[in-house]
Amino acid sequence: MRSVEELRALVEDELSRLPFAAELGRLEEALRYSLLGGGKRIRPVLCLATGEALGHEPRDFLPAACSLELVHTFSLVHDDLPALDDDDLRRGQPSAHVRFGEGVAILAGDALLTEAFRLVLGYPAPDPARELAFATIGMIGGQYVDVTTDGELDAEALAELHRLKTGRLLEACIACALAVAEVPSSDWEAWRAFARELGLLFQIVDDILDATGTAAELGKTPGKDEAAGKVTYVSLHGLERARELADDARSRVNERLNALPADTSVLAELVSAIRERRA
Ligand code: IPE
Ligand code: IPE
Ligand code: MG
Ligand code: MG
Ligand code: MG
Repeated sequence: MRSVEELRALVEDELSRLPFAAELGRLEEALRYSLLGGGKRIRPVLCLATGEALGHEPRDFLPAACSLELVHTFSLVHDDLPALDDDDLRRGQPSAHVRFGEGVAILAGDALLTEAFRLVLGYPAPDPARELAFATIGMIGGQYVDVTTDGELDAEALAELHRLKTGRLLEACIACALAVAEVPSSDWEAWRAFARELGLLFQIVDDILDATGTAAELGKTPGKDEAAGKVTYVSLHGLERARELADDARSRVNERLNALPADTSVLAELVSAIRERRA
């Protein structure tokens, strides 16, 4: 089985070769700038690692994996816009709207999203595209709640927001792999339960890092959540309790992972990286 590092290298190579539609013209430069300028590639690696855990060749999952990274990158480009989080730094470089202007950044996001679907529609069955659509809609719904809520979320509502804005796309990394591998529907719920907990864990850690990380580590501006008055795991529960809740989430993730009928060793490595990451 390939390690997380080997899977990441596969993803990086594939992303750098993705062909974009000729009609985009020089907008392609903005797509490549945001897509290839850093990023941990957790979502595509999760997709490949799931495929491998199911006993398949990771290469068969590369189009789905790259489509997930395209949607994720679209969400970051738009998340950073002045009308949303207004962040100047992303993946260690000026955000897309700082580099290219807001109009180009909006269009680059639109194009990244659309290119994702062109890519995933290359599979013979519609199921991976359906999963990607389900996740993208959920993420957008979560972002809507995020930008329109003024400090009025209780713990359950915040967990639900995190499940949508971040969890849905992480869930899709696994669901797309199940779809490509044609796993029977009776086996899906156990995988989805694992994926949902993992998505929540991911955003709890993101909230903690926003409060504790540095710009050099994160490649994005820390302290944005507090400055914007966002309700996060840290603002709602305090830092110490947020860390405990992250550890609780990690225990639930591991319970779900251990219950899966697959060789989950690489996925376990990824779960640890998601909890312990500093970036
Ligand atoms: C950041 O995601 C946005 C969230 C959904 C929390 P990542 O931490 O995966 O960002 P990159 O892809 O490594 O830049
Ligand atoms: C990320 O939420 C959600 C999406 C981009 C979908 P954040 O706003 O917390 O992400 P960062 O911290 O800017 O990466
Ligand atoms: Mg945001
Ligand atoms: Mg943000
Ligand atoms: Mg954040």
